[in-house]
Amino acid sequence: MAGTGQEKLKVLIRRAAIQKRVREVAQQITKDFRGERLHLVGVLKGACIFLSDLVREINLDTSIDFIAVSSYGKNKQSSGQVRLLKDLDSSIEGLNVVLVEDILDTGLTLTYLLRILQQRRPKVLRVAALLDKPSRRLKPVKADYSGFKIPNEFVVGYGLDYSERYRNLKDVCILSLPPE
Ligand code: IMP
Ligand code: MG
Repeated sequence: MAGTGQEKLKVLIRRAAIQKRVREVAQQITKDFRGERLHLVGVLKGACIFLSDLVREINLDTSIDFIAVSSYGKNKQSSGQVRLLKDLDSSIEGLNVVLVEDILDTGLTLTYLLRILQQRRPKVLRVAALLDKPSRRLKPVKADYSGFKIPNEFVVGYGLDYSERYRNLKDVCILSLPPE
């Protein structure tokens, strides 16, 4: 798909490479939690595509829930403020929880989520992030399962959006905007 107007898209990670890596991450999770139940918590909306591919490659007794937060407004800059928009449907007390994120950028969102989820006493709390931009980190957080490290570029596709658009792209693409 071409970008609309003067917005330009350049493929960064192709769908086949994503598929392969998602399978590897799922195999690692399956191995790490062998013989146990698993509870995946997807961070809406960006992680919905990653989570739906990931869960189908996990070979464990698995349940799913979603949480929604807002950190970014309509533009590409983080406001730095994280707000809970939708809470989990059910308790995570005593569960093996893997929080599923689309991208780990400054780490503000993840730091907030880990703090509120840890208070609910899960047995284990880990993080799976499809993408990681380590150069942007403001908080010392890491993903236990990480798909791809990427450079400091704004990306869309495979669930990631710009102003709610481009989530449906099959590849992860770099988005360039026209100068203002
Ligand atoms: P953080 O709180 O700065 O780590 O940002 C995490 C959230 O910001 C992600 O879950 C995304 O929703 C959004 N985000 C960060 N970088 C990008 C990007 O390159 N494209 C699209 N969304 C992004
Ligand atoms: Mg997100």
